[in-house]
Amino acid sequence: MEKITVRQVSYSYRTKYQTVHAVKDVTCTFEAGKVYAIMGESGSGKSTFLSLLAGLDLPDGGDLMVDGTDIREKDRDDYRKSEASVVYQAFHLLPLLTVEENVMLPMEMNGVPKAERKKRATEFLKKVGLPKEAHRKFPKMMSGGEQQRVAIARSLAAGGRILLADEPTGNLDTENGQNVVNILLELAHKEGYLVVLVTHNPDVAAQADVAYRMKDGVLALTDGMRVP
Ligand SMILES: Nc1ncnc2c1ncn2[C@@H]1O[C@H](COP(=O)(O)OP(=O)(O)OP(=O)(O)O)[C@@H](O)[C@H]1O
Ligand SMILES: [Mg+2]
Repeated sequence: MEKITVRQVSYSYRTKYQTVHAVKDVTCTFEAGKVYAIMGESGSGKSTFLSLLAGLDLPDGGDLMVDGTDIREKDRDDYRKSEASVVYQAFHLLPLLTVEENVMLPMEMNGVPKAERKKRATEFLKKVGLPKEAHRKFPKMMSGGEQQRVAIARSLAAGGRILLADEPTGNLDTENGQNVVNILLELAHKEGYLVVLVTHNPDVAAQADVAYRMKDGVLALTDGMRVP
């Protein structure tokens, strides 16, 4: 069971002219089987924090442990390939590849044999509710909601059990956004994925098991939330 323990984690961007303390002294835990929402104003540090959870950047203070191992001691390429993956607001699908090929690509880079890639792509596209007819389409032939589901399938097919979503519903209308949220809730509650979801939408955050708010780099539980 995946568990991420964050203890007094900080991260700053240092440029020639200034230092921005983007994440300040954050302490919290994330467990498999739950959806965690993070809300907060633009610039409050949400994406930066997600990039720490994703192993894209290392904390410059504090400890971030994944299943008891300090992220600094992990093979981070391996962590990003096979444990944690990020889904973005702009789906980042490759326009010249079909839906199925988009889902298969990370597996190809991970050295998964072709037959297995195809099998997993079919399985995960089905999981996000995309019928077989959709698998041969190109991304531009699909709605935003469908494209986001392809992006989620691509992340899942890579094999990770930690799904980090940065405003996955930000470009979607209410109905398509809710479909994506339903998929994330199901993945956590029925299949035991660990899901962290950054959102500007309070209706989306209200559906999470735990909702945090980030303000000036500081993370706190949203009012009314019990301490998990
Ligand atoms: N590469 C960078 N170099 C310098 N400063 C950065 C960099 N990326 C982000 N920042 C700064 O760090 C702070 C946190 O940014 P971050 O992108 O994490 O915010 P956010 O909460 O995700 O905002 P948004 O809701 O707009 O996506 C901001 O002050 C931002 O200007
Ligand atoms: Mg952001």
